Amino acid sequence: MENTSHDRLLIIDFGSQVTQLIARRLRELNVYCEIHPYQNVTDAFLAGFAPKAIIFSGGPDSVTREGSPRAPEAAFNMGVPILGICYGQQVMMHQLGGRVESGHGTAEFGRAYVTPKGSLNILDGWFTEGDEQVWMSHGDHVSEIAPGFAVYGTSPNAPYAITADPSRNFFAVQFHPEVHHTPNGARLFENFLKLAGFSGDWTMGAYREQAIAAIREQVGDKRVICGLSGGVDSSVAAVLIHEAIGDQLTCVFVDHGLLRQGEAEEVVTMFRDNYNMALIHADEQELFLSELEGMSDPETKRKTIGRLFIDVFQKHANDIEGAEFLAQGTLYPDVIESVSFSGGPSVTIKSHHNVGGLPKKMGLKLVEPLRELFKDEVRALGRELGLPDSFIGRHPFPGPGLAIRCPGEITRAKLDILRQADAVYIDQIRKHGLYDEIWQAFVAILPVRTVGVMGDGRTYDYACALRAVTSVDGMTADYYPFSHEFLGETATRIINEVKGINRVTYDITSKPPGTIEWE
Ligand code: XMP
Repeated sequence: MENTSHDRLLIIDFGSQVTQLIARRLRELNVYCEIHPYQNVTDAFLAGFAPKAIIFSGGPDSVTREGSPRAPEAAFNMGVPILGICYGQQVMMHQLGGRVESGHGTAEFGRAYVTPKGSLNILDGWFTEGDEQVWMSHGDHVSEIAPGFAVYGTSPNAPYAITADPSRNFFAVQFHPEVHHTPNGARLFENFLKLAGFSGDWTMGAYREQAIAAIREQVGDKRVICGLSGGVDSSVAAVLIHEAIGDQLTCVFVDHGLLRQGEAEEVVTMFRDNYNMALIHADEQELFLSELEGMSDPETKRKTIGRLFIDVFQKHANDIEGAEFLAQGTLYPDVIESVSFSGGPSVTIKSHHNVGGLPKKMGLKLVEPLRELFKDEVRALGRELGLPDSFIGRHPFPGPGLAIRCPGEITRAKLDILRQADAVYIDQIRKHGLYDEIWQAFVAILPVRTVGVMGDGRTYDYACALRAVTSVDGMTADYYPFSHEFLGETATRIINEVKGINRVTYDITSKPPGTIEWE
């Protein structure tokens, strides 16, 4: 959000895999921060951003290589505390007159132990039980520290594991305090923020007030439309915007016939009853299902659903006079412009369905009140706004819905069977108190019939696969280790209660190499 009145910290990104974790750790300490790639941090940007402190991230390059990334010189002259991490340390040493070496004996990967040398304010609370465990991941190391710096900690392969120039509040560490494998890392950040004078003013209560004021200013007396899926992000965005502008907001909930059992009623009731919101319930099941019936290619399904969704949304939005804005639940991880060293375009694994194509087509301006937040912050904001826990804790559900949990041909009959099996499975998970431990769980109906025997008769019905994964962000995932008792009981219930399924399997593929959804 522009014109934020919070204390701001700038993270200059040199392309580390874990830069986002720095931001996570700081947000947990109630500090507002933004990540920006080093190339974008010009002198003018720095002056405009006015950070109260700066952190240089790690990165994969070597400062000994000509043309490798550098920090903006102006950063060193702003009089604000700086913390350099890994590559960030090396770049600091290099630019301020020290030396960095690469080659034999300079690398260190994984767990290491740092031995203290003297005391330093940002290490308050460290070394209380001897050497401190840290996580290292570096090829090069500093071989000569910059003038004004002193060494405050060493490790077997990093003689300058912790260096600092306390007179300028410049700190540089070779290890990664942002990862969990540096158990006392949060303490180091806390000390750094304290000496930089952060007041910890980034709370969801403060954010809510600020976001509401910003939405009112942006929208004025115009109307906003919001695609509501019932997922956490769009729900929180809608409630926040509703709080800001009331009946200038109209939500559109598109029922494409690919929702779970009872889902449409649940979402519509919850918003109508609790929020008195203008909500269009677009029942377009027939439109979607008549086009999708018989379709089996995963990408064709996704593209068809995406196209129809846009058409339907546009049709209903056209009826809302004076709509100039479209609200989206974009999150911070979607907008971070990370430094990419791979150079090549990444492969499209799946065409994700979202409303991204809409604003251009419809000539609408965007309202994105969550674009500074991480997923868990969105949940915290949802709680702050009074959304029920049962809503906030819901498992993610993909835009194309059950269509991508029905590999092979889509038929209405298969969708009905799938809906019933999924309801039994989720009921089992809830009954066993496992729902909140699992990132996402669902049933996929397989395009194969198998022979079974029930009572004295032969059956020839569909097989299904149960899926349940744990994950932090959906990017990687592990299958959930259910007990055999749970799996056995669930299989029995599905076969007994759902006509059309006579065999149940459990998917034990993690991501990678699998994906979470089957298509
Ligand atoms: P995959 O299957 O790619 O899924 O491992 C990762 C996460 O994204 C969800 N997903 C989607 N969400 N539109 C969405 O809004 C989509 O098209 C879509 N495809 C997958 C999936 O459910 C999981 O949480």
